[in-house]
Amino acid sequence: MQAFQVAPRRTIILAICIVTIFIVLLRFYGDVPYEYYRSYGPAEPIGNVELSNDTPQEQYFKFMPEWDFKVPSSAKGYARIPKNKDVIVLTASDGGGHNSAIPNILERVLEDRRSYCERHGFRNLWLNTSRYDIGQAHRTWSKIPAVAEAFYLHPSVEWVWLIDTDIIIMTPETSIVDAIIAPTAIKSGIMRDTPILDGMLQDHETNINTPSYSRVEDMDILVTQDHQSVNTGSIFFRRTAFTRWLLEIMTDYTMLMGNEHVGAEQDALKHLMLEHPMVRNHVGIYPQPKFNAYAEGGREMGYRDGDLVVHFAGCWVRGMCKQWFEEFWAKRDSKEPWMPAEEKGGR
Ligand SMILES: *[C@@H]1O[C@H](CO)[C@@H](O)[C@H](O)[C@H]1NC(C)=O
Repeated sequence: MQAFQVAPRRTIILAICIVTIFIVLLRFYGDVPYEYYRSYGPAEPIGNVELSNDTPQEQYFKFMPEWDFKVPSSAKGYARIPKNKDVIVLTASDGGGHNSAIPNILERVLEDRRSYCERHGFRNLWLNTSRYDIGQAHRTWSKIPAVAEAFYLHPSVEWVWLIDTDIIIMTPETSIVDAIIAPTAIKSGIMRDTPILDGMLQDHETNINTPSYSRVEDMDILVTQDHQSVNTGSIFFRRTAFTRWLLEIMTDYTMLMGNEHVGAEQDALKHLMLEHPMVRNHVGIYPQPKFNAYAEGGREMGYRDGDLVVHFAGCWVRGMCKQWFEEFWAKRDSKEPWMPAEEKGGR
């Protein structure tokens, strides 16, 4: 009788052990290693930075070596504040275009970026966009391969701030890390449940809003909107698989880059945001004056003292580029309060 009962008891204990082992295994070895993705940050540089602004880069950037996404697992990942040296301020230009009306514009803005970067310890990078092969597409598309190359050239860099040459940094004491890309800044700064524009809102209601809830660690691209659309004159990219994918999709010659878009790469980003919820979940929209105030416009759009930059977007339409540029360039060193022309009379 005794011996008869021992056997099933052993079987039951054995069965419980096996089930327990499986529970433990499944608990700790899920097939989605989300902790790894949450905690990754970029690696230390793995080689010398090689850059020649004179050698053409062929076949878009798709045949460039893949970015390095591997990182020490000890890093606290995207929940941490990036180091200043892991931020690039990128000027992607060949010195031509509408802005060439302004004397020595490229030299002057590069000096502006250099002193800003020196002050905060950011990396200053200029890439000559003439080098990029963008087929017959509009010249502003070449900013996209430049962003990809910036990440490739600096494997430790986490964020790239791409700013056009028709932008002056007006408040260099403001750090883009503290004010814009630190997790707390993103959390409190981006606009949630806000309409994404496609022309004037009254005339073209998109009925598509930014997400009402979004995780800071998903915000891979930071941008602003003017009264009509997202504006890529001043835009931030974080080194992530999503960013890599987005840059690559944008330069798809059949679907996007090769098509006639009035606003070129800017329209492509807008299009992807309007069409794809997944893209909206990764693009944070800040209020415009945060890092893309225009030389003209009311408070929600136009420059006021204390704003980080001033952008002469569309200055060529009325031939104002040179005048605006010189006015604000001179204002950098002046302590005189600046006021938009339409407000000067009234006060
Ligand atoms: C950029 O490269 C093009 C083509 O090589 C060249 O003509 C142009 O002068 C370069 N721009 C600057 C500012 O050096």
